[in-house]
Amino acid sequence: MIAALHPCAEAYGKVIVLGEHSVVYGKPAVAAGLPNGLVLRARPLPDSAEPCRLRIPAWGLDLSVADVDHPVATAAATVLDHCRGPRTGWAIDGETCLPARAGLGSSATLTVALARLVLGPEAEVAAIEAASLAGERVFHGEPSGLDSAIAARGGVLRFVRGEPVRPIAVRAPIPLVILPSGVARSTAVEVAKVRARKERLPTLLEPILGALAAAAEAGIAAIESNDLGQLGEIMNVSHELVSALGVGHPALDRLVARALEGGALGAKLTGAGGGGCVVALRGPDDALVSALAAEGTPAIPVEIHG
Ligand code: PMV
Repeated sequence: MIAALHPCAEAYGKVIVLGEHSVVYGKPAVAAGLPNGLVLRARPLPDSAEPCRLRIPAWGLDLSVADVDHPVATAAATVLDHCRGPRTGWAIDGETCLPARAGLGSSATLTVALARLVLGPEAEVAAIEAASLAGERVFHGEPSGLDSAIAARGGVLRFVRGEPVRPIAVRAPIPLVILPSGVARSTAVEVAKVRARKERLPTLLEPILGALAAAAEAGIAAIESNDLGQLGEIMNVSHELVSALGVGHPALDRLVARALEGGALGAKLTGAGGGGCVVALRGPDDALVSALAAEGTPAIPVEIHG
């Protein structure tokens, strides 16, 4: 048992650019890391026998890792155990600008940063990912591993389940804007919806999953050649395809339409869908973010770098 935690650890948030859901079935996906996803700081509690406390005010979390009824506590305890870290004697405080449970990788930021608090900054990324996945299983059942990979590594990655990740070279920063719908959703529920539709209608769903895989590969080529017009069109097609899996939502369709009216080159739901966020590719005449701010539509501008 490791008695001490490192004082500070970080993880990336994430935006899935292409390939959510199809990635669960072994197809390629493209995800980008969002810097400053979550910073955790650890300090010893006066009583070393007291269960570790986890506080992340931005997500409304203030809990003991011994609280077996709370999924976040259970996931945190799972990660600590996986890394042979302490269950008692530490207060862990988190700071983040990411909304929770919105498809931006909040759970993977937590599990990756917790693993780093125990294993330290020099730990192998594979060890961090494995610990994160143990915690992610508490939240999502059988996650693809995409969120843990990007939360641990950042950058822009091509991810295929069970294969080594490939970093994608980005020639110039890619300007995105994330539009939270405010509609709550659960990754596990949305993943189950797709599985059920695939079981009912396999001959329809298989070609859609194949088209999503083709979209991810074509999107990688567009990113590598810095062809943002092409990338935007691929994102638009992907929104229709992923919605056809059964995880669309009128609020997401409205945000996609709003982004395109405002000059975005492309827009699509990102993450599990059913709510959560839209990601839009900002155009050269980048008036979209200020227009959204002026009308009070929540928007998070980000630039992704390889
Ligand atoms: O938890 P979210 O909303 O970021 O979605 C995860 C992405 C899925 O492809 C839907 C599930 C997975 O395990 O990859």
